[in-house]
Amino acid sequence: MILAANIAPKGLRMKTKVTVVGGGNVGATVAQGIALKELADVIIVDIVEGVPQGKTLDLMETAPVEKYDSILRGTNGYDETAGSDLVVITAGLPRKPGMSRDDLLWKNEEIVAGVTREIVKRSPDTILVIVSNPLDAMCEVARRVSGFPRERVIGMAGVLDSARMRAFIAMELNVSVENTHAFVLGGHGDTMVPLPRYSTVAGIPITELLSKERIDAIVDRTRNGGAEIVNLLKTSAWYAPGAAAVEMVEAILKDKRKILPCAAYLTGEYGFSNLFVGVPVKLGRNGIEQIIEITLTADEKAALQKSADAVKELFDTLKITA
Ligand code: NAI
Ligand code: 2OP
Repeated sequence: MILAANIAPKGLRMKTKVTVVGGGNVGATVAQGIALKELADVIIVDIVEGVPQGKTLDLMETAPVEKYDSILRGTNGYDETAGSDLVVITAGLPRKPGMSRDDLLWKNEEIVAGVTREIVKRSPDTILVIVSNPLDAMCEVARRVSGFPRERVIGMAGVLDSARMRAFIAMELNVSVENTHAFVLGGHGDTMVPLPRYSTVAGIPITELLSKERIDAIVDRTRNGGAEIVNLLKTSAWYAPGAAAVEMVEAILKDKRKILPCAAYLTGEYGFSNLFVGVPVKLGRNGIEQIIEITLTADEKAALQKSADAVKELFDTLKITA
């Protein structure tokens, strides 16, 4: 077999590298999604010995069936993460029944701070996509510890919350999910702000398709979407969260300039400063390429303010200072 001189043998290619920290339910789903789309090679880091190694071996053995050539490796240390193009942080405790996302604050602050320190030592130019809860506060922990500019610390929540809203709209109207679009802004908590005016089916706002009562029911179910699954599974969701994080990873690595609702550190936009709030952003190879400001009604503004106040309260209790 003759190989062209510029084609390196398989395994030695300089491919894009993504580290996923936390090889639990969400982390493993993110790794699998990245491999299925062949977005990058993936390193999974977890503190439990055998888990990241076992899961990545399983995913390597899935590759011939699913036909991907991404290489996946699991480790309990950080040396193999060096030079990562992007890092998804899913390490931490998930919610159990009766727990709010905020109950996780203390424990996960410690975990996310430690993980971020290890990552930035070896990948100072990487982009951090944060998943661990409470999401907005963990973004702030990663931002403070890393010292990264806001373009490179992005939280995953809005894509998930909007996907849930889209699923509920599609179920309600019996239409393809592909026809649906939705925007959920604000913090990733009970005060999140689903925006029916900006949620559409085939371009038609749902306010023209559904009664106020049905829209209110969809909004309410979206706000409680995480808790609905926790009540059923006795732990939190992972398929939709994993897929949502992969959509962000893809938008960044492929420089798609895709507009997605993400937790971003605001410096005046929407009237908020020094706070992570879920807003529409343009994602590309530099991370956040632009923060999009949409016009809000007085009621929508008030709801966003309430959500931002809840995030601010959490920020004020963080032990790690700016
Ligand atoms: P999980 O328990 O299945 O996985 C978490 C993993 O993190 C475990 O394997 C654990 O060993 C690992 N871990 C703990 N401390 C670590 C450390 N210091 N270094 C490396 N790994 C460490 O939990 P799951 O379901 O994967 O959820 C992960 C996090 O993501 C939770 O905080 C959860 O609340 C959050 N989450 C956030 C969502 C969002 O929309 N932002 C959606 C779903 C989950
Ligand atoms: C979710 O929304 C618990 O944040 C997690 O499913």
